[in-house]
Amino acid sequence: MARIFITGSSDGLGLRSAQALVKRGHDLYLHARNGQRAQDARAACPEAKDVFVADLTSTEETKSLAAQLNQTGPWDTIMHNAGLMNGVSNLKGKEGLPALFAVNTLAPYILSSLIDPPPKRYVFISSGMHHGGDPSLRNIQQAFYSDTKLHNVLLAFWFARRLRDRWVTSNVLNPGWVPTKMGGRNAPDSISAAIDTYVLLAEGSGAAEGKTGKFWYKSRPRGPNGASRESSYERSLDDETRQDKLIEMLASISGVEPPQLLGKS
Ligand SMILES: NC(=O)c1ccc[n+]([C@@H]2O[C@H](COP(=O)([O-])OP(=O)(O)OC[C@H]3O[C@@H](n4cnc5c(N)ncnc54)[C@H](OP(=O)(O)O)[C@@H]3O)[C@@H](O)[C@H]2O)c1
Repeated sequence: MARIFITGSSDGLGLRSAQALVKRGHDLYLHARNGQRAQDARAACPEAKDVFVADLTSTEETKSLAAQLNQTGPWDTIMHNAGLMNGVSNLKGKEGLPALFAVNTLAPYILSSLIDPPPKRYVFISSGMHHGGDPSLRNIQQAFYSDTKLHNVLLAFWFARRLRDRWVTSNVLNPGWVPTKMGGRNAPDSISAAIDTYVLLAEGSGAAEGKTGKFWYKSRPRGPNGASRESSYERSLDDETRQDKLIEMLASISGVEPPQLLGKS
């Protein structure tokens, strides 16, 4: 049995995977953007142990969420699932950061840096659309959805590298294009296949046991674009300099230092 926290679990893939994981006997902790959505989440998954509230467009609320998680931990699994895509291009968070960047890119960085002790497993959620992301990392705060999903891959790989010696795994998955509020009713891919991948990585079981720094699709490790890592773009995701650059930028924007290597203060 694992203690699992999933961001953005009031709806969609986060909620569906929480419901699946509860049925498998795990202790689930949900997350919603406000009190009303927390009530909705509790009603949809009454077996969950608790629901945390934080609007991830706000860096202050995200930091406070990390503090609450530290009081409730230690954690087996943290899943960075919350995401925004449509109709938010002009939306800003409390501190003025663009909402899409704050929720999709900055919040997973802040939480992964502040959760102490780190969980056994981090799971980041990307998308097939990461392939259209801008690897130059220019104008990062004005990131489009595809850019943020590329950031999720780079973050997962960076945390895999940084936390390897603490026996923490960090992986990233692409759920496919599936029917949720974000994906739309006519999305062609199987939501149950997506949930199977969430469950596999949340449990760190089966094919995922002991694996870190991998990109997953349909319960299997793949190259980030669903193929083997053959193109120069895919190899560029393994570029540690690019991962480091993203981390430096996010540390500077958020004021949150990344976790240090063991043995360094
Ligand atoms: N669906 C797809 O086809 C697809 C494809 C590729 C990748 N993904 C990724 O899969 C993940 C889940 O997507 P989904 O399809 O399940 O989307 P969804 O149905 O729209 O659910 C997104 C979840 O994130 C929460 N959220 C959004 N903004 C938030 C904020 N500011 N603070 C706190 N929570 C917030 C939402 O809360 P509310 O319910 O209150 O809005 C909801 O619980 C995302 O990272 C997405 O990028 C989805």
